[in-house]
Amino acid sequence: MASPANRAPPHLHFLVLLFLLLSPSITAWKKDEFRNCNQTPFCKRARSRKPNTLPPLSVSDVSLSDGGLAARLISSDISRPLLLHLSVYHGGILRLKIDEDSSVDPPSRSRFQVPDVLLPDLNDRRLWLSRLSSSSPGFSSFYLADGFEAVLRHDPFELSVRRTGSGSDPTQDRILSLNSHGLFDFEQLRSKNDGEEWEERFRSHTDSRPYGPQSITLDVSFHDADFVYGIPEHASTSLALRPTRGPGVDDSEPYRLFNLDVFEYLHESPFGLYGSIPFMISHGERSTAGFFWLNSAEMQIDVLAPGWDDPESPDDRRIDTLWMSEAGVVDAFFLVGPGPKDVIQQYTSLTGTPSMPPEFAIAYHQCRWNYRDEEDVAAVDAGFDEHDIPYDVLWLDIEHTDGKRYFTWDPVLFPNPEEMQKKLAEKGRKMVTIVDPHIKRDDSFFLHKEATEKGYYVKDGSGRDYDGWCWSGSSSYPDILNPEIREWWSEKFSLQNYKGSTPTLYIWNDMNEPSVFNGPEVTMPRDTVHYGGIEHREVHNAYGYYFHMATANGLVKRGGGNVRPFVLSRAFFAGSQRYGAVWTGDNTADWDHLRVSVPMVLTLGLTGITFSGADVGGFFGNPEPELLVRWYQVGAYYPFFRGHAHHDTRRREPWLLGERNTALMREAIHTRYSLLPYYYTLFRETSVTGVPVMRPLWVEFPNDKETYNNADAFMIGSNLLIQGIYEEGQKSVSVYLPGKQSWYNLKTGVGYAGGMTHKFDVSEDCIPSFQRAGTIVPRRERFRRSSSQMVNDPYTLVIALNSSLAAEGELYVDDGKSYDFEQGAYIHRRFIFSNGKLTSSSIRPANVGEKKFSSDCVIERIIFLGLPHGAKRALIETENREADIEPGPLILRAGSSPTALVVRKPNLRIADDWTLKIL
Ligand SMILES: *[C@@H]1O[C@H](CO)[C@@H](O)[C@H](O)[C@H]1NC(C)=O
Repeated sequence: MASPANRAPPHLHFLVLLFLLLSPSITAWKKDEFRNCNQTPFCKRARSRKPNTLPPLSVSDVSLSDGGLAARLISSDISRPLLLHLSVYHGGILRLKIDEDSSVDPPSRSRFQVPDVLLPDLNDRRLWLSRLSSSSPGFSSFYLADGFEAVLRHDPFELSVRRTGSGSDPTQDRILSLNSHGLFDFEQLRSKNDGEEWEERFRSHTDSRPYGPQSITLDVSFHDADFVYGIPEHASTSLALRPTRGPGVDDSEPYRLFNLDVFEYLHESPFGLYGSIPFMISHGERSTAGFFWLNSAEMQIDVLAPGWDDPESPDDRRIDTLWMSEAGVVDAFFLVGPGPKDVIQQYTSLTGTPSMPPEFAIAYHQCRWNYRDEEDVAAVDAGFDEHDIPYDVLWLDIEHTDGKRYFTWDPVLFPNPEEMQKKLAEKGRKMVTIVDPHIKRDDSFFLHKEATEKGYYVKDGSGRDYDGWCWSGSSSYPDILNPEIREWWSEKFSLQNYKGSTPTLYIWNDMNEPSVFNGPEVTMPRDTVHYGGIEHREVHNAYGYYFHMATANGLVKRGGGNVRPFVLSRAFFAGSQRYGAVWTGDNTADWDHLRVSVPMVLTLGLTGITFSGADVGGFFGNPEPELLVRWYQVGAYYPFFRGHAHHDTRRREPWLLGERNTALMREAIHTRYSLLPYYYTLFRETSVTGVPVMRPLWVEFPNDKETYNNADAFMIGSNLLIQGIYEEGQKSVSVYLPGKQSWYNLKTGVGYAGGMTHKFDVSEDCIPSFQRAGTIVPRRERFRRSSSQMVNDPYTLVIALNSSLAAEGELYVDDGKSYDFEQGAYIHRRFIFSNGKLTSSSIRPANVGEKKFSSDCVIERIIFLGLPHGAKRALIETENREADIEPGPLILRAGSSPTALVVRKPNLRIADDWTLKIL
């Protein structure tokens, strides 16, 4: 969290106050605090360059080397040749590395390559390149995946990926290409020329830039693309990335990837927020493709409107993009798709699939800055019970500590933290405390003493511990890039080291961009120095990632290696999905921020981070009751579902806004709890495939153009479609239901035809939500205090039949907390209904371990939607039981006619194989 009054050193309070009083508008986003492209020399230079105006680069000395293709890039402009290496990974991935040969005279320092992001087993998935085809002179091409090849044009240098089988012209049928516009530029490290100025200044800050300019620019073209998506984190109400340059685009900024603590961010801006993932996906009717550049320095990315290069002949079948990075090397991955799910799988095969969260973490979280003391905690906890609202986790923000010293407790406000956690744990509830990276420079603070003695802090340019201003006042920051320091950090979470913690305490990493209130752009200066002499500029966007990693590993260690951690992080980078959840930071309680949360969470999901959500209600400001209710209704579907608020806001626990609103928020939270079995099954899916829990419609309906830029509706898995309500007092809403099959309203059971837009009246008690025909969704309909109190509860299956009167679905169950599922301790069922028969069978790959998970849970209710009238009997067959049940009509909503058939108490065990016949 961030607050203007609190973020400034004390002597500035008066000025800030004055500014707030004099400020004519309430827009607090201080644009001037952040650099734009024109104030950023590498960006300004690269952006103003015209296509094909640099001395052309050519490829020489092509050879097979280390299982890939090696070559040199030369031009009249380049002092030392650039080394190029291409390799291929299983599943349709081409990797391009370009670095300078630092051994050639004069030798230079090595440029930074981001460690510990790519999966360690990636090398085992290399396809060994043993043959280059030279069927066309001046080109080298080789096999990439079935139906795809890589093509390297030598002069001028261009790399592309194309479909094979459609002709011998190597420039035909391309899906991706690099340097097609000759914008590739690699600033080589060199010594300073006489009188040359390397320092850069921004506001009152000077960046010494001891190694001089070292930026890299490249152009990437996505062929056959209607839209491009990805590169979080930005706030935009459009899911597809809008062009930032070219005909029809007003003067605009490129998308910036630079992790920053942006105070009161706008709901519509290309400025970078808290996290960065340099991964873009293109999609069109013919194909989906991806481009990922593993580089953690500041990046700026332009999406170019058709005709940007030649207004006379715009090509709207292709989207050109320009990528500019301040430092590092080219380590880029081309993903061939061809479908949306293929691209996401390819990307997560590089950076990892999301880890399987503990089950409580996907239920509802209650947070506020701050729950004041133990009494306040007890009262909020009791409030949920009094109002019959389930919740799983209560959060404590920075004020719980002893003077912002993390890992400590305020002795007056929280004298008995263990007892407090135990009381929550009795109801199956957990607690989360905040642990930020800024460490108070206080010699009596054990953590500071240790970090200082061991030399574990990031250093300033002169070699002293870097000292910045944050919540804890004068603070230093652990050099978390160093594996040894990560190890040290992770030990701090043991029950012995973290006094007052218990096994049901989990962690929140905030401010890990890192946020430095008095630093340039509210972050750490670029010329501070990390482990191995790495400059902060080189690693900036990954700092929060390593912090998240070390914290999550700390919780794993605390649990002896067999308890799943839960850590929420604000900053993120490619691969953060392996360590826990992220949220979209300090949003605002207005309707636009509710709307923008959906494309933001969808974008995170497309780029690997499925476990995310926005603060429900909005962090800053006071939501009107209607907005808060609508936010709960949308938020109940976010993969990460947490209510949170700034300390200057009025209290807004879900029962404080009148009985009617309490009932509406209770119902929204109940919706989430009833769908937990479905969500948990989806989290299992994403942990295997990377395909996100909350997905854009086009991921499920890739051939339906209507869906490509729909940011108002979203899918939960393949089975549910949800449409948010984002306007005050909205009376009706148009919802596009894709596909040929119909959709059933979750609440009323009424069916609607697919492939068209429907206009619905908006009701206050829910947002439009639908189950796709042909699917089966497992639910649990009994409400308890928390998810862990539901473990023995029976299930309901909702079967929505398609036009062939068939449907299919899954249920995944395990112990919800350990890693035993990795050895096979789980139940994974497939339910298929066809020809009047519902069967349950086990999904279990042959190589899964021997460990078993047992459950006596049964199915207590089966609801059929869309079954023609006349079913009289349901015959049950299991290994040891046969039974005959009379199905009945089901009225889903009071006052309406029956729309469904229900089989009550079939009491079929989820662990068993069985069949149920409808006669
Ligand atoms: C209906 O659903 C079943 C099960 O998912 C599927 O196999 C079948 O193809 C679907 N029928 C139609 C017409 O889509």
